[in-house]
Amino acid sequence: MNRTKSAQLFERTREVVPCGVASQVRSLMEPHPVYFDHAKGSRLYDVDGNEYIDYLLGYGPMILGYHHQAVIDAMERQLQKGWGWGAPHELLSELAEKLIEVVPCYEMVRFNNSGSEAVHATQRLARAYTGRNKILKFEGHYHGWYDNIYVSHLPEAESMIGLERAPWKVLGSPGQPESVLEDLVVLPWNNLELLAKTLQAQAHEIAAVLMEPIMSNCAVIPPNEGYLEGVRELTREYDVLLIFDEVITGLRVALTSAQGHFGVTPDLSIVAKALGGGFPIVSFGGRRDIMELMARRQVVHAGTFNAGPVRAAAALAVLNELSRDGGVVYEQMTALANKLMQGLADAADSVNIPVRIQGSGGPFFGLSFRDPDKPITNFRDSFDTDAELYTRFRWELLERGVHIFPTDKGLFYFSTAHAEEDIDITIDRAAEAFQAIA
Ligand SMILES: Cc1ncc(COP(=O)(O)O)c(C=O)c1O
Repeated sequence: MNRTKSAQLFERTREVVPCGVASQVRSLMEPHPVYFDHAKGSRLYDVDGNEYIDYLLGYGPMILGYHHQAVIDAMERQLQKGWGWGAPHELLSELAEKLIEVVPCYEMVRFNNSGSEAVHATQRLARAYTGRNKILKFEGHYHGWYDNIYVSHLPEAESMIGLERAPWKVLGSPGQPESVLEDLVVLPWNNLELLAKTLQAQAHEIAAVLMEPIMSNCAVIPPNEGYLEGVRELTREYDVLLIFDEVITGLRVALTSAQGHFGVTPDLSIVAKALGGGFPIVSFGGRRDIMELMARRQVVHAGTFNAGPVRAAAALAVLNELSRDGGVVYEQMTALANKLMQGLADAADSVNIPVRIQGSGGPFFGLSFRDPDKPITNFRDSFDTDAELYTRFRWELLERGVHIFPTDKGLFYFSTAHAEEDIDITIDRAAEAFQAIA
């Protein structure tokens, strides 16, 4: 495939924008990122005129696919009226009411522009509500890039400090102050016994347990049978708040999000990426008695652009589309995801390449190169994968017009715009790609 213009744009852009990209992970598209020109449905088109079936979906948000007419119409209607005046508007209550209808833990809700911000808000609420400082998080769980939580995430840390030091607690980036580590307790995920012991010893200083209910940034690791229920019981017993970071899983796993899917209701939660259908609007919410700390002005939460009316209109259009006919689109997207999971597994198997594909229900899954019969159950398991082979596979797919997550253990996302035909084409192209790297 000819990507001359992309290469030229990369050379030009990286002179003025570090790595030529606006967010770090985008720089991992070796040998250079693809520069896109436009998109429609399930397809992306680059500046050189190449077409790709897309499973990255903007890292998750494009759940309706690209250029969805209902979103465009809703936004255009609102654009004619105005797009932001730093004051409330009618769509705010409509959006909040709709979210409260679908997200089980939401009794009240507020909005931000990014998942990182909303995670930040829930931590502040938890600390204010409990009067305690520490947040308990889990190895490998990503909750955004802010100083106080971007910890114990990078796989590189494993080679830096060794797995024998357990559990490890390590900053994610130079520039973060060491002092943030004092306010964090870090544990391996999916281990109830360890959590019970830790809460027994330290609950008096822990404000909240923060986790993704499905570990989505790492191969899509489902919770062990009974794990979420156990965490819920323990956090209640020790009077510690439970926060589900559903930045990815919110409105993705099901309309009711992972909390509805598993029937475990946290105290607070963040529902983010899918909400705006590609526009930056995210929600956080939960128990009324906690959220009301903001109503009483005891906890400050702010943001110049929060819940601007045009983005609120986009979010309402997305929610309407997703909830149509009782959320039938989730069944359709999940059927396509299951078909692709099976097709990829068969294609890899036919050329004897070990590929592990795992999901947790819902329209997304993770793919990594390792023994297909060895499930990844926590962050540490996930080190045992062949990242180089993934990179070669990703490249071979890109050359054949299929665009996937840049890094090993990455996600395949599905949208309502994906069709059976996309899956059939992808399986054929993946078979060729596996053959090429075999
Ligand atoms: C689970 C999770 N939490 C938080 C974030 C941060 O969200 P944002 O990139 O919108 O700041 C992400 C981003 O990918 C995420 O996957």
